[in-house]
Amino acid sequence: MADAGFAPAKVNLYLRVTGQRADGYHLLDSLAVFAGVGDRVSAAPAVALTLALRGPEAAALGAEPDNLVLRAARALAEAVGVAPAAALVLDKRLPVASGIGGGSADAAAALRVLAALWGAQVDPATVAAGLGADVPVCLASRPMRMQGIGEVLSLVPPLPRCGLLLANPRLALATPAVFRARQGGFSAPAPAPPAWPDAAALADWLRPLGNDLEAAAIGLCPPVATVLEAIAALPGCLLARMSGSGATCFGLFADANRAEAAAAALPAAWWRWGGGLSGAARP
Ligand code: C5P
Repeated sequence: MADAGFAPAKVNLYLRVTGQRADGYHLLDSLAVFAGVGDRVSAAPAVALTLALRGPEAAALGAEPDNLVLRAARALAEAVGVAPAAALVLDKRLPVASGIGGGSADAAAALRVLAALWGAQVDPATVAAGLGADVPVCLASRPMRMQGIGEVLSLVPPLPRCGLLLANPRLALATPAVFRARQGGFSAPAPAPPAWPDAAALADWLRPLGNDLEAAAIGLCPPVATVLEAIAALPGCLLARMSGSGATCFGLFADANRAEAAAAALPAAWWRWGGGLSGAARP
């Protein structure tokens, strides 16, 4: 991978809750894509394991001893059979607890940079699922269909050129609370993804598939509805929807320029970003 330390935001273009396991985890069906905005993880040789936090969103993380980046480092070191020694730096740009997989993306980026630093002969994918349901797809960092609890991944047809806008009202939502607040039964999985000729066709295909956590998130955090309405009203918006368990919502646009211009029209008090996809999107 060209930029192993980049930890892009994960966006669930649709998210269907299809069942629940005996251990409480939910079975999902989701199409995950990656935005051109993200955190960054770097690793340098050191005699012990350390993590320095930087960036505009670092304050929200605090000095968490159980940071997922450190857990990823320890899990990989154990799998590889080396001492967990590295000086890690996490440049935090994505809002914390916001439904775009920031922590999972950071863990995945840590696995990639540490596998390179330690010359690991072990595939980091072997430890990814143990760190969280979203870590395997973040390790792939390309458009993927997620099933199981998120760890069963399959490739989808190349995405058409499109733009993505992300907006968060700067309110954190805890994923377990949103799953618990969800009402109603389970959804059928989505039909097999077709080859979408353009962003409008992708939006038409996504429209009926929804995000089964959206109503629960709005119940816990009513401003999510305001964000969705604001995005839907932006010129050129093809689809407005919440990502993951929220509160970040996205808008789909025909191209990156339109998404970038649209983001600038949203309230400055929100965290907002507009641009293109990262990963295996068609140019
Ligand atoms: O796996 P991860 O630590 O990211 O999940 C956080 C929480 O989200 C879980 O403890 C669980 O409550 C909920 N979750 C779920 N079903 C999933 C993924 C997450 O219920 N597929």
